[in-house]
Amino acid sequence: MAVEQASIIAGIAERFGRSPARLIDVARAAHAELGYLSEESMGLIAEALGVERVQVRDAVSFYHFFEREPRGRSVVYLCNAVVERMKGADEVVKAFEEATGVSMGETTSDGAISLAHTACIGLSDQAPSALVNGVPLTNLKPSDVPMIVETLRKGEDVSSLPQAKVTMNLLKRGNVVFSDMDPGAALGKALSLTQVELINEMTVSRLRGRGGAGFPTSMKWNFCRTAKGEAHYVVCNADEGEPGTFKDRVILTECPDLVFEGMTVAGYAIGAKKGFLYLRAEYEYMLADLEAVLAKRREAGLLGKHILGKDFEFDIRIQMGAGAYICGEESALIESLEGKRGAPRDRPPFPVQKGYRNQPTSVNNVETLCCAARIVEKGGAWFAAMGHRDSKGTKALSISGDCERPGVYEVDYGITIRELLDMVGAHDVQAVQVGGPSGQCIGPDAFGRRICFDDLATGGSIIIFGADRDLLEYMRQFTEFFTEESCGWCVPCRVGTTLLLKEYEKILEGSGTKSDLEALKKLGTTVKTMSRCGLGQTAANPILTTIQNFPGLYEARIKADEFIPPFDLAKALEEGCAVTGRNPDLEEKDV
Ligand SMILES: Cc1cc2nc3c(=O)[nH]c(=O)nc-3n(C[C@H](O)[C@H](O)[C@H](O)COP(=O)(O)O)c2cc1C
Ligand code: SF4
Repeated sequence: MAVEQASIIAGIAERFGRSPARLIDVARAAHAELGYLSEESMGLIAEALGVERVQVRDAVSFYHFFEREPRGRSVVYLCNAVVERMKGADEVVKAFEEATGVSMGETTSDGAISLAHTACIGLSDQAPSALVNGVPLTNLKPSDVPMIVETLRKGEDVSSLPQAKVTMNLLKRGNVVFSDMDPGAALGKALSLTQVELINEMTVSRLRGRGGAGFPTSMKWNFCRTAKGEAHYVVCNADEGEPGTFKDRVILTECPDLVFEGMTVAGYAIGAKKGFLYLRAEYEYMLADLEAVLAKRREAGLLGKHILGKDFEFDIRIQMGAGAYICGEESALIESLEGKRGAPRDRPPFPVQKGYRNQPTSVNNVETLCCAARIVEKGGAWFAAMGHRDSKGTKALSISGDCERPGVYEVDYGITIRELLDMVGAHDVQAVQVGGPSGQCIGPDAFGRRICFDDLATGGSIIIFGADRDLLEYMRQFTEFFTEESCGWCVPCRVGTTLLLKEYEKILEGSGTKSDLEALKKLGTTVKTMSRCGLGQTAANPILTTIQNFPGLYEARIKADEFIPPFDLAKALEEGCAVTGRNPDLEEKDV
């Protein structure tokens, strides 16, 4: 076996050119072949790539989908995101435990099936869902489970089961992303412009990034274009890990050509020859189709050398992730793209100055690149005529939770929450989580507010909570998510998220006092202001925004006051813990 393992890994490493930058790909392929990555296999990978074993272990231990112990021949990853649990995921978990006779995290004695939890897999519109050997199963019911387990026990593929069906639920097509396209139209127009003219068109459009921070795309591209480097790179961020977001899944399925066209246009604008689509591991089932679209574009002269007969060369490689929410953060993504664990980098330098391989790199969201292609094709003024104030164009929203019609809706910026709730058939709504857990939770008195950068900004996730829901329990689950996803690099986030969860649970259990609530707010603010990257800077939002917007829910949970000295994380950090990388600037500056 040892010899066989060595030759398997050597073969895989060979396929990836023995490049250390392809470490994640090599580890993924070895994992797929061997079922898990033992110390021995990590050693063999290190040898094959010419890196230290610790580097391989460091990366492998970071990503959720790398197992380091033997596991079942089939692995059932049951999604435990908030919307999934609202829709009955806990009952589905119980049914799997009953049918297999093992608990979550365990493997059946015959080695056939392992059960594991996973965070949001981008299927909140068809929850409860699971990934079984990479195949998505949706709309699961406890009654489906015995048949799924039987199929796995027989060693059969689950792809042909009725539950192995991902529906697009694209319920509103707007004028930008989901309107018909002619492959090559935007690119042909782009190549007739100079780089400066093209970027000027972006300036006229006032396009702002759809990945969350809303940074003007024209500025990002111009910074990148003018930055000095041996090579420039485009990265399309398709990590889509924010719980409740699934619009990029639908964009990549419905309009992959537009995404690749946008990447190619970006490549021309910034002077890049190479682009990467960083695709989250959970979306591996889309890989073959995306590769086929790339192949077609190469055949059509839309990628490769002399694109459309012009002196412009550009190609795209799809880089798979391996399961880590933090890899959506652009500098963490770049680290992962270089074959390392996805720990965010210190900024400056920003990716546009020193990104992939320390070269100027523009990281853009899937939807941003689609908008960019449209803008080139139809003109900046056409785009700027849509939307609201400083938020131009449309926004693709992923709407899920308590509503009749969950799905993806492309709306003009400026839509109010009330209009949005009517659109999706949501009644008797207690709260709306705008922008996923890292966003804000608002109540009915704020439903007149608008989706736009100046008011309610969102990368796309909208989760609706009906009147009967225990809202604070879901905020606890969001906090737990951040605790699990913290990369652990800086103390305020690593320790702070765990403390937040512990203190919050005390309040939810009914043993918290008014002083505890005050201490919690202070702790949340400390984590927000002292964390190094956007994850820590937003991890307290579920707690802080509900304390602010739903004070009654907290008052109902707390005991009569008694003096308990509140834990002061800021003071504790000053007194001894090593704090690294304080970011005084809360607004993420994504250049
Ligand atoms: C924890 C965290 C996760 C993120 N996840 C994503 C993501 O999944 N997709 C995305 O486009 N941007 C994500 N971002 C934002 C990126 O860092 C970056 O701002 C974005 O990709 C830039 O693209 P844009 O200019 O088109 O918005 C995330 C940021 C943080 C802090
Ligand atoms: S805030 Fe710190 S620990 Fe948290 S994810 Fe960012 S770098 Fe990692």
